[in-house]
This record gives sequence, structure tokens and C-alpha cells, in this order.
Amino acid sequence: MRLFLDTASIEEIREINRWGVLSGVTTNPTLVAREHGDPDAVWKEILSEVDGDVSLEVTDLSTPSAMVEQGRRLAAMGPNAVVKVPMTPDGLETGKLLTKDGIRINVTLVFSPAQAILAAEIGAYIVSPFLGRIDDAASDGMHALRQICEIYEVQGYETNVLAASLRHPMHVVDAALAGADIATLPYDVFTKLVKHPLTDVGLQSFSADWQRLQEELKGGA
Ligand code: E4P
Repeated sequence: MRLFLDTASIEEIREINRWGVLSGVTTNPTLVAREHGDPDAVWKEILSEVDGDVSLEVTDLSTPSAMVEQGRRLAAMGPNAVVKVPMTPDGLETGKLLTKDGIRINVTLVFSPAQAILAAEIGAYIVSPFLGRIDDAASDGMHALRQICEIYEVQGYETNVLAASLRHPMHVVDAALAGADIATLPYDVFTKLVKHPLTDVGLQSFSADWQRLQEELKGGA
């Protein structure tokens, strides 16, 4: 399962990138707005920083042709750009047209297996079910993800399943077990993923034992 970072913060991207585990980035209008800068500049900096897919979301939803035009512009920002379109009739129309142009699309705001079938049928590169938000609505996000992965397997769909809206490390573990192709994690979930109390305890006792040995050796010399 490829790991993406769900952010528009270049500092967060640089930190996780240095771990050697980052295969891509997902952004959305809320995350880009949090950076308070020119969106084009934010997107371009991320595209050049990351050696992998970067999802950029269309924001001009006035008409399908406006969405297509913006989608083409976003795709032209870099060879690693993936254009996010929403799971709506206009989003599907836009996604299909962009796909025909050879542009890779990510269908976002997906909350059900039925919607995920539509995303696969237009030839999307990525489908993004939002697990945490499904849980927020008192439903079972992981169950929906498992069903989507099973449907895609049975039907031979090539669209990549990207587990989105993940809130804690067990979401990541369960998404991997379900067979998701990609998981996108907020920065704090990445930092929780690397942590284990026994790693800290083990490191402390190794360091203390090593220090004791150094003192013994100094004392013996
Ligand atoms: C994915 O592409 C979305 O940006 C993201 O995962 C949404 O997560 P949230 O529900 O935590 O906002």
C-alpha cells in the first residue's frame, strides 16, 4: 500500500519525505486555504517537492466545461499532477472527458460502494472513499472500504482505491488489510504511526547500557 500525505504544508511534506516512505500527496481546497498563499504557487511547490502523485482539486464547479478547463490547467502544472473531481454528475462528466485526454483523475468525496463503481466505470485513476467522515455519520467507513476493494477485485477494475479521511494508525493498518492500494494520512497520523512506547523504552535502556560500558572502559584504562 502506497502512503500519501494529506496536506498542503510544504514543511510537513519535507519532514515525512525525509523518512523515505512518501509516495505522494493529496490536497483539497480546505488544506490549500490553510496555507493562506496563492494556490497556484502552493500547488507548484508541492509538485516539485514530491517524487510521486500529487492530487490537485478543481474548485470552479460552475459548469462541466469550466471544470474541464481548470482540470486541464491543473494537469499541465506537472507530470505528477492528478486532478481531483467530486463525485457528482458534473464531476463524472468532467472526469470522463479529462480521462479521454490522458489526464489521471482522482474521484473525491466518495462515501459508498455504489459511488465507487461509478468512479471505476469512467476510468478514474484513483477513487477516494472518506472513511473517517463515514464514521462521523455513524456508519462504518472500514466496511465500505472492504466492500469497494472486494468489488474492484471481483470486477477487475484497475482504478486505485485510496483510503482517505484517516484519523488514527489503526485506520491505516485496517486499510492495508482490506487491500487499499493507497492510504492518505494527515501529518499527525504519520507521526503516531512511527511511535511505540516500547521503542522508546528499548532505546532508553540500550543507550543507558552503552553509556555504562563506556564508563567501565574508561575506568579500566
Ligand atoms: C483526501 O483526499 C481528503 O483530502 C482527506 O482525506 C479528507 O480528510 P478529512 O475528512 O480529515 O478532512
